[in-house]
Amino acid sequence: MCTRDRHLYQACLILMVILAWISGCTALKKSNPILPIREYEKLIVGDLNADYVGTQNCLAACHTHDKLKLFFDASTMGAQLRKESGMPLVDCESCHGPGSLAIQGLTPEQVAENLKQGIRTTCNFKSLINLKTLPATAQSLICLKCHTANATFNLHNWNAGIHAINEISCFNCHDIHAGPDLKVTPRDTGMLCLRCHQDVQAQFSLPSHHPLKEGRVYCVDCHNPHGGFAEHSLLRDTVKETCVQCHPDKRGPFLYGHADVAENCVTCHSPHGSVNSKLLNAREPFLCLQCHGGHRLNQEDGGSITAERARALYTRCTDCHSRIHGSDVPSASGAGRFIQ
Ligand code: HEC
Ligand code: HEC
Ligand code: HEC
Ligand code: HEC
Ligand code: HEC
Ligand code: HEC
Ligand code: HEC
Ligand code: HEC
Ligand code: HEC
Repeated sequence: MCTRDRHLYQACLILMVILAWISGCTALKKSNPILPIREYEKLIVGDLNADYVGTQNCLAACHTHDKLKLFFDASTMGAQLRKESGMPLVDCESCHGPGSLAIQGLTPEQVAENLKQGIRTTCNFKSLINLKTLPATAQSLICLKCHTANATFNLHNWNAGIHAINEISCFNCHDIHAGPDLKVTPRDTGMLCLRCHQDVQAQFSLPSHHPLKEGRVYCVDCHNPHGGFAEHSLLRDTVKETCVQCHPDKRGPFLYGHADVAENCVTCHSPHGSVNSKLLNAREPFLCLQCHGGHRLNQEDGGSITAERARALYTRCTDCHSRIHGSDVPSASGAGRFIQ
């Protein structure tokens, strides 16, 4: 019936577009439900009938958490437990929620008695917040209670960052109980990041690659894992700024620059790795021929081009145009052709 007259046809079309749009939306919503922030806040309050009892009471009767406690005390967060530090106190309940119900009825005597009969006592941990099953946003909110953008400057862009949006939480990268050092060292980031970014791992295995495996470059030299203003969560505002941290000779400005092409290094280079030498996106001369017509050979040679010379012109342009990133020296014609 949609074909019967034009107006009806148009109406049908619009209806179909709207339906397609709505179904698209619901599909998005299902895979990635974003709730109002108060819903996540409710999830991290803990059991409303429980009270905060303090780390000493939590752990007095129980020795199974000794190692956790030792690690934690030795960490930066644990150091805040020292009253004289004057810093906010962080204890077990800051993250796990109020613990009175978890230890209700547990006394050191009873735990010792159980042990004599070979029974290992556990606290009623189900009354604590089940950190593992919380939605990612709620998990992060636990940390963000204290690590506000003001307190932890590099989290300024967290909420708008690609990781937060894709439901990656602080827990995915920071293992609170792995050891006394809460910091992720740059050296650790390789394995950490590649766990999820396997396509990137493949790129770093190509014949020409930044020396990540060799331990000379790290993901966090170029990316901010907490998100940033720049595209691809780059550490600096632009690709060029990111690269010239370590390649300052490419910064310029040059008297003869390669137009604004050189502003974006990834026009010619693959930052992680490439099958071509020098991380190039394409082999020479094809790289250059994407933008430049074939060389106008006979201008400066007066037409005396041998077959061999012509071939040379078409293999490695940078044999002659060696200052490809820019030069301060004019070429023979007085123009800037990156010859020297
Ligand atoms: C900064 C937040 C934070 C603090 C403070 C904290 N924890 Fe945890 N704890 C976590 C997170 C996050 C997990 C694990 C979630 C996961 O595995 O995904 C966890 C897991 C645990 C587990 C389960 C370990 C396992 O292998 O399943 C125990 C037990 C525990 N914590 C005890 C403690 C004790 C005792 C303290 C105080 C000394 C403490 N936690 C302080 C965040 C914290
Ligand atoms: C109750 C407040 C509080 C909570 C909740 C909290 N932190 Fe902390 N955290 C601190 C304080 C205070 C410090 C030490 C001062 C600092 O470095 O900012 C700290 C330090 C750290 C450090 C080490 C920084 C360094 O320079 O060594 C990391 C990493 C960290 N926290 C991660 C987390 C994660 C991940 C969570 C959530 C699981 C979390 N924190 C939850 C208060 C908190
Ligand atoms: C994708 C992995 C990843 C996620 C997710 C992540 N972090 Fe980090 N975080 C890192 C890495 C890597 C470093 C070390 C940064 C560096 O060396 O430049 C770090 C450093 C830190 C530090 C120490 C500050 C410093 O200057 O070293 C704190 C505090 C911290 N993160 C808190 C958090 C909190 C809170 C969250 C969640 C809101 C979070 N992080 C989410 C990877 C992550
Ligand atoms: C030398 C700097 C540098 C290093 C080191 C680096 N990256 Fe990148 N990365 C970039 C640049 C620049 C881009 C943007 C590329 C573009 O615009 O085409 C990018 C893009 C990405 C992207 C999105 C595009 C894609 O290829 O999927 C991901 C994901 C990524 N990097 C992850 C990582 C991880 C994980 C590591 C560490 C194992 C890492 N990067 C190390 C510079 C770097
Ligand atoms: C738990 C899994 C996980 C871990 C660990 C992880 N990422 Fe990601 N990362 C993701 C997801 C999911 C996305 C969004 C989808 C995508 O673009 O691949 C993403 C996106 C990115 C992007 C942006 C890509 C773009 O196109 O803009 C960069 C850059 C990136 N991650 C770098 C890192 C770095 C650096 C680390 C280590 C510090 C890291 N990631 C650790 C899951 C992870
Ligand atoms: C943290 C420092 C660092 C940053 C940032 C960095 N590089 Fe590098 N780059 C290196 C190191 C180290 C090498 C290896 C040099 C060597 O082996 O002599 C290298 C090598 C290269 C090479 C030559 C590869 C070869 O096969 O000889 C190119 C091209 C390159 N980088 C481009 C870039 C680009 C483009 C960016 C920005 C996306 C960038 N670099 C960012 C450290 C860095
Ligand atoms: C127009 C394409 C092009 C652009 C844009 C470009 N490069 Fe290159 N780059 C090349 C070519 C071609 C080579 C290989 C030269 C050779 O083999 O002698 C190279 C080589 C390199 C090298 C290794 C050799 C050396 O000179 O140190 C580094 C490092 C490098 N580029 C960094 C950068 C950085 C950083 C940027 C961005 C500011 C950038 N490149 C932008 C084409 C480009
Ligand atoms: C993404 C496009 C692009 C690529 C790739 C590229 N160039 Fe260029 N190149 C330009 C632009 C744009 C100019 C400025 C043209 C102008 O001012 O007339 C330029 C200028 C030049 C000039 C100076 C020309 C003149 O008239 O002053 C030379 C020489 C040159 N490029 C050589 C190369 C070589 C060699 C390569 C390969 C290594 C290369 N270019 C790769 C876009 C590119
Ligand atoms: C044998 C050395 C040599 C090789 C190889 C070479 N060039 Fe040139 N090129 C020159 C010289 C010399 C000039 C003129 C310089 C002057 O103006 O003084 C020039 C000029 C240019 C110009 C500006 C003049 C014009 O034609 O508009 C461009 C663009 C250029 N070359 C691109 C390329 C490209 C792309 C390649 C590789 C396909 C290449 N060149 C290979 C020597 C070479």
